[in-house]
Amino acid sequence: MNNDCVPTLPRKVAVGNRRSFLRKGLAAAGAATTAAGLLSAQQTNSGQLTPGDTAILRFLAAAEIIESDLWEQYNELGGIQDSEEPSGTGNPAYTAALQNLDGDMAQYIHDNTDDEFSHQNFLNAYLASKHAPTVSFEPFRTLPGSTATGSSGKLRITNLMQLTVDTSWYTRYRSGTQNSDLDPNVVFPQAVPGLSAGQFTAIPRTDADLSPADHLQAIANTAAFHFADVEQGGSSLYPSLAQRVTNPEVLRILLSIGPVETSHFQTWFDTAGNAVSQPLAPLTDPTNGLVFPDLNSPPYGGETYQTNLIMPEPCPFISGSLPPCSVIRPTATMGIAMGVVDFLVAEGLFIGQSAAFFEFLNGLARAADAARRL
Ligand SMILES: [Fe+2]
Ligand SMILES: [Fe+2]
Repeated sequence: MNNDCVPTLPRKVAVGNRRSFLRKGLAAAGAATTAAGLLSAQQTNSGQLTPGDTAILRFLAAAEIIESDLWEQYNELGGIQDSEEPSGTGNPAYTAALQNLDGDMAQYIHDNTDDEFSHQNFLNAYLASKHAPTVSFEPFRTLPGSTATGSSGKLRITNLMQLTVDTSWYTRYRSGTQNSDLDPNVVFPQAVPGLSAGQFTAIPRTDADLSPADHLQAIANTAAFHFADVEQGGSSLYPSLAQRVTNPEVLRILLSIGPVETSHFQTWFDTAGNAVSQPLAPLTDPTNGLVFPDLNSPPYGGETYQTNLIMPEPCPFISGSLPPCSVIRPTATMGIAMGVVDFLVAEGLFIGQSAAFFEFLNGLARAADAARRL
């Protein structure tokens, strides 16, 4: 993952995109039914899903729809653009600010988006193949999004413009002594305290956000930390829920999608570190005072902050009497679905959504949390 710090278009643009997700995404409503028809009895286990497995898959479909919606917004403005993109222009200035973090940023954003659409489409199609109810959030696509150059202007499910980003994942994965599964009261330090204390946009809301340069860079930096923030959640969600599924094929699905969330997280762990390293850091947004510190210089640095320490540090796991182990954390399973919902609500991702939206999402989460392995 290079860190060219050169605000130019990604070199992979000329190579081409690996896939085109929007064709699949635009057809999402019908895709579940269509794809279900393609899944033959030989390809899936016979028989119906247990109510618990259905509830877990439905909540995961919901989570993936939410991910797809937020990633689509990032992709329209900061991903590579291809013939499938709704506007096809992107936002060159925002893309350049993201490319300051890593020369491959635009490609990574596109591909993460692609993956989320594939997750939601697959999960809904699988549910339909088992004659289980699918999940749609289309009635809740009500939020006006960015009007900056590159935005499709479509209504959104999620709000990326008033985020309070919890950056404690950064230090949680560096701790060799603490694991919230063993000590739920542990508080990990914030990597970027300012991001966790206010409301900040992670995308240019209008073209007025494209300057001054340090303001736009702070927006790109916010996005970088939000990318990892979202994907570390997925990294915990799948193994947590996998412990309560019953059908081996459903277990296979969770064990196969979950690590992709972690591959995303690991990528963003690396790129976010460039927002808090020289030469970009330290940086102060002149419009609101948001500070991205240089985490390699005093009073930072060391095991807790050094930016190239991106591999999960071995930590206590299962029992403090066992030797430390390098693991995803947390993976305690009880209440994980509502925990994820509460986390996303707290970060402001659903600011502006209706009471009916929260009722629907909370219902899906509660049902998933009630599932037990038979
Ligand atoms: Fe996903
Ligand atoms: Fe994800």
